[in-house]
Amino acid sequence: MADARPFHWEFSPEPIAREVLRIEGGHRLEGSVAISGAKNAALKLLAAATLTGERCRFTNVPEIEDVRVLAEVLGDIGVAVDHPAPNVYEVASGDAEWLFVPLEAAAKMRASFILLGPLLTRFGRVIISNPGGDRIGRRPVNLHVDAMRALGAEIEYRNGYYFAKAPGRLRGGQITFPQITVMGTENAMLAAVLADGHTVIEPAALEPEVDDLIVFLQKMGAQVERTAPHRIEIEGRRRLRGADHSVVPDRIEAGTFIVAAGVTHGRITLRGAEFDHLGAFLDVMTEIGVSVSCSPDEIEVDATAADLKPLRCRDIETAPYPGLATDLQPPTCVLLTQAEGTSHVHETVFEDRLEWLGELRRMGASVEIADQHHAVINGATPLHGAEVEIGDLRAGASLILAALAAGGVTTIRGAHHVQRGYEKIDAKFMELGASIERISEGT
Ligand code: UD1
Repeated sequence: MADARPFHWEFSPEPIAREVLRIEGGHRLEGSVAISGAKNAALKLLAAATLTGERCRFTNVPEIEDVRVLAEVLGDIGVAVDHPAPNVYEVASGDAEWLFVPLEAAAKMRASFILLGPLLTRFGRVIISNPGGDRIGRRPVNLHVDAMRALGAEIEYRNGYYFAKAPGRLRGGQITFPQITVMGTENAMLAAVLADGHTVIEPAALEPEVDDLIVFLQKMGAQVERTAPHRIEIEGRRRLRGADHSVVPDRIEAGTFIVAAGVTHGRITLRGAEFDHLGAFLDVMTEIGVSVSCSPDEIEVDATAADLKPLRCRDIETAPYPGLATDLQPPTCVLLTQAEGTSHVHETVFEDRLEWLGELRRMGASVEIADQHHAVINGATPLHGAEVEIGDLRAGASLILAALAAGGVTTIRGAHHVQRGYEKIDAKFMELGASIERISEGT
């Protein structure tokens, strides 16, 4: 490990000041909005670019804080990252000098752990912070680490850091996950494409962002294929080449705008969204009463005459793709506050994704959080303006949706969380007729 650089890691100053959103609700949203590239694909694609010394070029990259942070982490390990135009990134990682991903990066963005696989397989070593610190239970990375070990990596955990080495090259092997993990699948795949021999990943995540990564890896010359819905097979290559790629559209952002139409009784056209990636979510929307139709390039959402109702015979239940995305559970809950009757929500993927409903209650929603995985929503209740706090990305976007539906003014603290994953979200809503003011905290 080179030791020319100071151990203490210095990130550039936080570009986004702590900001408050002041939203005057009750405006019907109408018009057309462009859907950005997917955060959950872009981050993995930028990481994949470190698998080659040649230049990779990405278009349709969302202009969001998480991408900026990952670009900065890559720059700090010696990878050249250029941003020649909006939504375009170029990555050339001829040589990485400093194979160290610090706690500061992991604390800002858990997805920085996606660098474990590609850096380890290409450079043979990496020291990377545990994104959860020493916390056990929530969002662990044990499955990523086990996957690397199955490929022959030696990994020790000390003082909050994983010290990973690949003696010689990583070796292909069987990776069997005890449950489906999106980033675990991606990390395993990124490591295996340069390993020696054949790798099988089972059960492999089926999310569209995983398939977008497979397509990019194939462009780089990797031999990687989904051979069954939940199986990915890889024959490792010695070298990969540079490639160009346009990031798949963000289905979570698309779902957020569909709910925005629903809760404001509006009519919104989504440009550049991928209808096929929204199957389970659109089934739920249709059952609740939001009308959605599609043409080759656009999704039309019309809720001007919507009479919203809860799902009659089943819970709203999240699941790995092709099930209802856990990231779309919070927006769906906002819509359900406006549906006449009782809805049962079952969050199966994460254990901390219902807590934010407490903030929604402050806006007048009738919500009972039964336990970490179950909630009951009684509608329809009119939402009213309140002072609320954003705790994380998806809950944040959903509080904005609630504020758009509410009567009066809502003040939302912690707006920077939303900037992590949604490009220009307030500007996009304002173009559709929303009234949103962004104020620096303390002014
Ligand atoms: C990704 C997405 C996130 C989405 C989630 C589920 C990115 C950057 N983030 O997160 O937006 O909500 O998929 O669709 O793509 N688990 C372990 N050990 C591990 C890894 C995961 O126990 O090592 C558990 C998690 O706690 C969770 C479940 O597995 O209960 C699924 O998580 P996972 O699919 O890995 O989520 P991420 O890939 O982190």
